[in-house]
Amino acid sequence: MGAEQKVAIITGASQGIGGALVSAYRDRNYRVVATSRSIKPSSDTGILAVAGDIADPATAERVVSQAVERFGRIDTLVNNAGIFVAKPFTAYTDEDYVNILGINLNGFFQITRRVAGEMLKQGSGHIVQITTTLVDHASSSVPSVLASLTKGGLNAATKSLAIEYAAKGIRVNAVSPGVIKTPMHAPQTHEFLAGLHPVGRMGEIRDIVEAVLYLEGASFVTGEILHVDGGQSAGR
Ligand SMILES: NC(=O)c1ccc[n+]([C@@H]2O[C@H](COP(=O)([O-])OP(=O)(O)OC[C@H]3O[C@@H](n4cnc5c(N)ncnc54)[C@H](OP(=O)(O)O)[C@@H]3O)[C@@H](O)[C@H]2O)c1
Repeated sequence: MGAEQKVAIITGASQGIGGALVSAYRDRNYRVVATSRSIKPSSDTGILAVAGDIADPATAERVVSQAVERFGRIDTLVNNAGIFVAKPFTAYTDEDYVNILGINLNGFFQITRRVAGEMLKQGSGHIVQITTTLVDHASSSVPSVLASLTKGGLNAATKSLAIEYAAKGIRVNAVSPGVIKTPMHAPQTHEFLAGLHPVGRMGEIRDIVEAVLYLEGASFVTGEILHVDGGQSAGR
């Protein structure tokens, strides 16, 4: 394994979009640091699993220090870990607020600033957030203010960081999904959720993976919020 083999950190890597991103980056010959609370050690020596709660700064510290110690560099960070709680605004509890902001926002902040520090030393890197198209296209059938508050913050931070780092070799982008067929959604909800998209179907995990891989190779693209949402953000 030469020093030229790239390294990606994927958060929320135990299942769903994150699990598929781990496989996709391995298929592209990246070494991968996979993190989530329940992530299990891998028999693949190109995957380092680091278990922890992304809302806890100690997890970010462990992920980044072990990535550098084991693989020597960090080329890509995909901030994929996230939770989604849809409720009428007044039904959100203090616990919901702490959990959602802790995972979606503190999680982003704690790991991204540590990774960015390594990327600045290298003079290169790519950071991608997975947000949600509800930020741009609120829906009366899916009330979810705390998703918009947190993922909208990530969209804004994506542009801000992209500009801060534009001349430093680090690109920063986001993928903004519609509703994707992952364990987040029970099968009995799929028909209803498909109907929320102008194209009449839910997204597949591969739709999001392909978008992230496009951004990975798109050296002239930074500060982009790439909507992968079956037309939701365009209207209906
Ligand atoms: N599916 C959709 O329709 C959809 C739509 C828009 C945006 N998104 C976004 O896409 C991302 C991935 O969604 P998904 O559908 O693949 O979700 P998922 O199937 O529910 O998986 C979520 C992942 O995040 C990890 N995670 C949850 N809480 C965590 C915590 N406190 N600390 C560390 N890891 C944690 C989970 O692993 P552990 O349980 O092992 O911790 C799991 O690997 C999320 O940011 C989500 O908001 C999804």
